Amino acid sequence: MSESTQLSKEAATTADKQPTCESSSATHKNEERKAADKKTVEQKVAVVDFGAQYGQLIARRVRDLNVYSEIVPCDITADEMQELSPSAIILSGGPASVYADDAPTLDPAIFELGIPVLGFCYGQQIMAVTLGGSVGHTEKGEYGPAPLTLSEEAGASSPLFAHTPAQQTVWMSHRDAVSEVPDGFVVTASTDVCPVAAMECASKKLFATQFHPEVRHTPHGNELLKNFLFEICELEPTWTMDGIIEDAVAAIREQVGDARVILGLSGGVDSSVVAALCARAIGKQLTCVFVNHGLLRKGEPEEVEAVFTQQFDVDFVHVHAEDRYAALLADVTDPEQKRAIIGSQFWKEFFAVAEELAEDGRPVKYLAQGTIYPDIIESGARKTGGKASTIKSHHNLIPFPDGVSFDLIEPLDHFFKDEVRALGSALGLPDYIVNRQPFPGPGLAIRIIGTVTRDKLEILKNADAIVREELDAYNAEIAAQSGVSNGEVVRTCAGGPEIERSVWQYFAVLPDIKSVGVMGDERTYGYPIILRAVESSDAMTADWAKLPYEVLARISGRIVAEVPGVNRIAYDITSKPPATIEWE
Ligand code: XMP
Repeated sequence: MSESTQLSKEAATTADKQPTCESSSATHKNEERKAADKKTVEQKVAVVDFGAQYGQLIARRVRDLNVYSEIVPCDITADEMQELSPSAIILSGGPASVYADDAPTLDPAIFELGIPVLGFCYGQQIMAVTLGGSVGHTEKGEYGPAPLTLSEEAGASSPLFAHTPAQQTVWMSHRDAVSEVPDGFVVTASTDVCPVAAMECASKKLFATQFHPEVRHTPHGNELLKNFLFEICELEPTWTMDGIIEDAVAAIREQVGDARVILGLSGGVDSSVVAALCARAIGKQLTCVFVNHGLLRKGEPEEVEAVFTQQFDVDFVHVHAEDRYAALLADVTDPEQKRAIIGSQFWKEFFAVAEELAEDGRPVKYLAQGTIYPDIIESGARKTGGKASTIKSHHNLIPFPDGVSFDLIEPLDHFFKDEVRALGSALGLPDYIVNRQPFPGPGLAIRIIGTVTRDKLEILKNADAIVREELDAYNAEIAAQSGVSNGEVVRTCAGGPEIERSVWQYFAVLPDIKSVGVMGDERTYGYPIILRAVESSDAMTADWAKLPYEVLARISGRIVAEVPGVNRIAYDITSKPPATIEWE
C-alpha cells in the first residue's frame, strides 16, 4: 500500500493551536482522568497497528460505524490486551514482509483470549504464521482493484461475507500472501493471483483478508466490517455524537468539579472545540483567553470574539497585544527568531491574565488544551488502557513560570481531526471555525518575508482574504461535484486510498521585494503577492494544486485591482519536498 499518507508531523497537527504546556502533576491528573473516563466507553475495538497510517484508517472506519476504536501498538502483550478488554480486535496491514528480520510480530497468546480477531493484509499473514500456517511470495504482486471469488462452500457460508456477492472487486496491495492456512482454518475467497484472499476459523471467531476492506476502493468493504462488528461480535452502534458529547461533558464536570479553568483560545479548530465543549460542561467556570497578536487573518479576531461572547456563555478575555508584538518584531527578519518571540510572548500574556484572574481569590486550577488523538499517536505514546503510566501527550514543553502550576484537561485526546470538527458542528460552532484550514501559530509573521510592519500586514491580510474567498468557493464547488461531504475528495489514482480536500491549504505570501508595473498611464513600484495552494493529507508532503487557469486569473485580477500596493501575482509551483509549505 502506498506510503503517501504518513502520519502528520508536529507542525501540521499543531498548526492551529497556541503552544501547549505540561507539568508533571498535570500529566498525572490527566492519566487518572483517562483511566476514569475510559470506563464510560463500554464496547471498544482495538486496532493493532503494524505500520504508520494503516491503523488510523481502520480506526476511523470503525468509528464511522459508531463503534469506539483505539489504536494499539503491535508489541502489545496478551495481558495488556486483556486489561484493555476490547470487544473485538482488528489487525492492520503494514509495509513489512513477515519474514523480514525486523518484521513486527504479535503475542500469540492474543489469539487465545477468546476475543474475535479480524486481520487485513499483513494482519492476515501474521495470523497465519503465528497460528502455524505459512506465507510465501506470489508469482506476481497484486496492486489495485482485483476480482475476488468466494469459495463455493466456505465462502458462501462465511459470516464475514454475508450479504455480499460471490464475485466482487477488492483492493489489493501485496507481494507476499498466505500459502498454507493454519489448522482449523478454511479458505473463504481467492483471486487469480492469490489463492488465499480470505480465510477464517469461524468457531474461534478468527477472520482475515489479504485485501483491504477499510479502503473505499473495496466496494463491499464496509459491509464486511459491519458483518464483523455487528453480526460476528454482536456489538451495538452506540458511539454516536450525542453520546460522545454527553460522555465528554460528564467527564469534564467530574474532573473539574467547581474549580476554575483557563484556555488559550487561538481561534483554530481544536481550541475552539475544547472551548465549546467546556462551555457546555462548566459554563462560566471557564475563562477563554484570546491573545490577539495582530497576526491573524483578516476578520478572524472579530469572528472569534463574536462566537465566544454571543454564542457561548463563558468568560472571554480579549488581550489586545498587537502593539507589544509589533514592537517586539520591529527589526526581526529571521524566521526562527520570529517564532521564538511570538511563542514566548504568548505565555507572558497568558500568564498575566491567569495571575489577574487569581486576584479575586478563586485561583485557576486547570488549563484546558486541544490535544487531539493523532498528537498522542504521533508522540509514539502507548495507549493500552491498562498502561496509563506510559501515556504521554504530545507537547512543546514550555516551562511554567515559578509558582504557577495547572492541572491539564484535554477533552479531545481520543478524537481524530474529522471527529473534532463533527463535535464542533454538533456543539453549534460556525462552519468557518469548524472547517478552518491549518494556520501556523506565528500567523502572518512568517508569511511576510523580512520585517513585519503594519503596512505590510494590511496588504497581506487583504490579499489573503481574496485568496481564501476564491479558493473556499472552488473547494465548495469540487465537493458539490464529487458528492463527498466535508470537502473531501477520494483520490482514484492507483497510489493509494487517501482522502483529502481538493486544495488543502492556501494563502498569500508577501516577499521582501518590489517590482515595476504599470496601472492606467502610471508606472508603479509595488509588492508582488505569492499565491501558495497545496494538496496534501498530512503536511508531511504536499503538491502544488493544479488550479484551473480561470481560478488563477480571477485571484490575480482581484488582488491587483483590490489591494493597493500590489502590482504582480506569482504562483508557487513547487512541491514539498524540496520546498516547504510555508515560505519561512
Ligand atoms: P511546512 O512549511 O513545514 O509546514 O511545510 C507544514 C505545516 O505546518 C504549518 N506550520 C506551522 N504551524 N507553527 C505552527 O503551528 C509553525 O511555526 C509552523 N510552521 C509551519 C504549515 O502551515 C503547514 O500546515
